[in-house]
Amino acid sequence: MKKLLVILGLICLSFSSIILFKPGDEPVPIQASKQRTGDAKAGFIYLTTGDYLRSGIPLSYFKLGFGKTAINYFNRDGNNKDIPYDYTVVNAPNGEPVVAPNCMQCHAQVFDGRLIMGLGNSTIDFTHGQKLDPKNAAAAEKLLKNTDLNKYEASEPFLRVVKAIGGQLHTKVRGVNTADRLAALLASHRDPKTFRWSDQTMLEVSDEVIPTDVPAWWMLKKKNAMFYNGFGRGDFGRFLMASNLLTVNDTSESREVDAHFNDVLAYINSIQPPAYPNPVDKTLAKKGGILFVQYCSKCHGSYGSGGKYPNLLIPESDVKTDSLLYKSNYQSYQFVEWFNNSWFATGDHPAKLEPFNGYIAPPLDGIWITAPYLHNGSVPDLETLLNSKERPAYWSRDFNNPVYDYDKLGWKYIVKDSVQGTTVYDTHLPGYGNYGHTYGDKLSNGERKAIIEYLKTL
Ligand code: HEC
Ligand code: HEC
Repeated sequence: MKKLLVILGLICLSFSSIILFKPGDEPVPIQASKQRTGDAKAGFIYLTTGDYLRSGIPLSYFKLGFGKTAINYFNRDGNNKDIPYDYTVVNAPNGEPVVAPNCMQCHAQVFDGRLIMGLGNSTIDFTHGQKLDPKNAAAAEKLLKNTDLNKYEASEPFLRVVKAIGGQLHTKVRGVNTADRLAALLASHRDPKTFRWSDQTMLEVSDEVIPTDVPAWWMLKKKNAMFYNGFGRGDFGRFLMASNLLTVNDTSESREVDAHFNDVLAYINSIQPPAYPNPVDKTLAKKGGILFVQYCSKCHGSYGSGGKYPNLLIPESDVKTDSLLYKSNYQSYQFVEWFNNSWFATGDHPAKLEPFNGYIAPPLDGIWITAPYLHNGSVPDLETLLNSKERPAYWSRDFNNPVYDYDKLGWKYIVKDSVQGTTVYDTHLPGYGNYGHTYGDKLSNGERKAIIEYLKTL
């Protein structure tokens, strides 16, 4: 009997140690990789006026369609003076001026009347595919071919891409982004070594459209890996320039564009998060800071002078947020292989993709302004991020007159009991789940309030 008990005890011990130390359950630190240095000012100019895309819509047609004068947020001159901030007028290789979308389509947002550079655009609308409608692209191509061959030649690389993949980027809900899918679809039409376009797809891309939020640019300076999955390793400039795949002609163009992205990285690293504009309760924030160190710092780091960011990947078994995004990097392994065997992974500053079964615990600088939260933007504010039972299953915000809640830190929203149209976030859809990250649940309401007050100061 005693022997049996001992054996049972041993089994229990080894069982509990499996639960505690199951391989893959531990956070994984990410090592830094060498980055190119550059000039932030030159990077800003290139980002807002540079020709990292060299095809688009002929300028005269764009002006006809847009019809009004945009606010000149960047004080741009020449043709860019009255073009919206998220487009740039560039000269196509044949000298024809075309209007191309730029990074600020997704990486800037007007917030309470001010354009915030680097803030992920959480109002973008991929639901109807209006931005990239293949039918419109085909019609435009036909028209240009019959009327102006120069303009046709200048627009063709852009229009053929829209025709081929524009219809495959629709999301179910407004406000989420499909840049990851865009990258995979572009790769599927391009030779990895030469970037030559083919109308046929050469990789299988799953039909699933996985939604993401857009991370704020000012956090990148702390991170040793890019993207929610932390799978972007090596030279960051190579990932920053990946939009060039949209219209690139050949790798000699990629080389020219790449030579500017050390400066773009320097600019991105120079961006400071916007300060919380309202008064902060200092006593409460101090209390929140102590709780933060106790409950949050081991993953998200410490702030202020002497602050440290640990750069940790947290396995899904711990964070338990929606798994579709990270899983897609394993299920569509062909894309990872395409990238790791492509031009991007060559030369003296290569990049590579290293998938992980979880997500990076991001720095929380400027977190007050970056709602909605989690990698899929499924949680409307910090109050509910820290109390998972209160997270709304269906919620809607006013995209025409967005109002920010400076106390709960997030978009003012209305709880719905079902899906109605494309402005209601439906957390039951695959990839849109709002579960996991329950680290705030055990705190009292008062403790959560204190942590939120502290987060306003980061
Ligand atoms: C169509 C929207 C879109 C465009 C255009 C776009 N991005 Fe992004 N970007 C995203 C999304 C979405 C992510 C997050 C993807 C993920 O992590 O899975 C991202 C991630 C990033 C990151 C990583 C940040 C981090 O902390 O990990 C950087 C930096 C970045 N983009 C820079 C750029 C630059 C520079 C350009 C222009 C050359 C650009 N992006 C164009 C949508 C876009
Ligand atoms: C075990 C590690 C871990 C702990 C502890 C932890 N977090 Fe997180 N946190 C993460 C990870 C990983 C993510 C990204 C999850 C995702 O997007 O799916 C995240 C995301 C967040 C986000 C959303 C970021 C964004 O841009 O959407 C906030 C805010 C946040 N955490 C705050 C906190 C606070 C406050 C605490 C303490 C009460 C805390 N976290 C404790 C790992 C952790």
